[in-house]
Amino acid sequence: LRTRDIENNGNGPLYRRLQSALKAVIDDGILQVEDALPSERDLATELGISRVTVRNAMRALVEEGVLVQRHGAGTFVAPRVEQALSRLTSFTEDMITRGMDPGAIWIEKTLGHASPEEAMALNLSPGTEVTRLRRLRTANDKPMALEYAVIPRAFLPSPDEVDKSLYDALAKYNKKPERALQRLRAELFDGETAKILGVPEGSAALYIERRSFLANGTPVEFTRSYYRGDSYDFIAEMQVDA
Ligand code: GLP
Repeated sequence: LRTRDIENNGNGPLYRRLQSALKAVIDDGILQVEDALPSERDLATELGISRVTVRNAMRALVEEGVLVQRHGAGTFVAPRVEQALSRLTSFTEDMITRGMDPGAIWIEKTLGHASPEEAMALNLSPGTEVTRLRRLRTANDKPMALEYAVIPRAFLPSPDEVDKSLYDALAKYNKKPERALQRLRAELFDGETAKILGVPEGSAALYIERRSFLANGTPVEFTRSYYRGDSYDFIAEMQVDA
């Protein structure tokens, strides 16, 4: 990182330019997950800029979820979450496995009637009653994904049944899914979704659609999610046909 690169990095306040220059260093893999950043003082001296500028840039990156600050230890590149594509797990399970604290912030919890698209995904007649859950999913309070789940009301009588985990609520009724189909696609965050997740508009998103089924093949869930492209890796194991 050189002072010149930061100064020439667009316009706007210097700390913003430093913020995006640091982000680029991480995106390029020069600094990797769990790598420590130099101290505020060292970076300021090295770049010949004020400590306040460095502090503001780092703070903004912590807010963006790109960096984590650990008390007494320093600032590090935040870990990415890896999720296996072959195992059916819930967000809650995924986070707990990684030693992170899963959370959900509710945006919508309602009963409604299946739209034609939802009816098709869930194999229902259009208009059938469904439970709708729209949640911001967090890990250690960092926003990770925006999820919109639609469940036939027959399987989840009231949205209030869900406290933190949807799959735990379904398990209570013996309706935890056993199989799922998932579609992933790259998208860009629109303004509204970006704002909810605290990322810049137009940044990379991973759109994931999951339809999950009971053991007997009945669809139980249709969920559309937007995961932060900067925080998530999906891992698949592949084999050549026998
Ligand atoms: C993942 C899936 C969703 C599923 C959710 C359940 O995030 N993408 O389709 O609904 O897990 O997680 P939880 O039980 O924590 O609500």
